[in-house]
Amino acid sequence: MAERIEVLLTEEEVDKRIQEIGDQISRDYAGKQVHLVCVLKGGSFFMCELAKRITVPVSIDFMSVSSYGGDTKSSGVVRIVKDLDESLKDKHVIVIEDIVDSGRTLSYLLDMLRSRGPLDVRLCTLLDKPDRRVVDVKVDYTGFEIPDEFVVGYGLDYDQKYRNLPYIGMVKFD
Ligand code: IMP
Ligand code: MG
Repeated sequence: MAERIEVLLTEEEVDKRIQEIGDQISRDYAGKQVHLVCVLKGGSFFMCELAKRITVPVSIDFMSVSSYGGDTKSSGVVRIVKDLDESLKDKHVIVIEDIVDSGRTLSYLLDMLRSRGPLDVRLCTLLDKPDRRVVDVKVDYTGFEIPDEFVVGYGLDYDQKYRNLPYIGMVKFD
């Protein structure tokens, strides 16, 4: 089925908000070093843009978990596809996500990361769909709260497409 993409958040809006979050994190972690854990693949575009705007020392690592197939519904199954390269011991960790939807993936992931001896673990997401929450997750930094729409761009995909859009779009079928 052919789909159409409607702009929800422009590139300018997203960039401006990422700068604000970068400023906030730089203030909150003044005098400290932060360790950004990017959840692949969706979080990668957001993490790179955010990292460039953080002024305290930053280190980065990546992990990949699977919760979605080529579908738009959560399977509820979380599997580690790629684990972190580095230890979290004694680090100020910030998990960087593209979107929190049901919260299933994050809830599992945060518990697992917290068991690895970090100083603290916070969660930063570009997008949040609070209406869809099934599992309660505390989000420390949110770019935008959005309505219950399937969105793409800035790292988010529909069937592996559209990650490279520089804005956030809604997928429409008509
Ligand atoms: P959750 O476990 O249901 O919170 O799922 C989170 C993951 O589902 C995100 O990291 C995305 O990979 C994917 N996801 C949820 N909503 C969307 C969407 O609107 N567009 C693209 N991917 C989504
Ligand atoms: Mg994701």
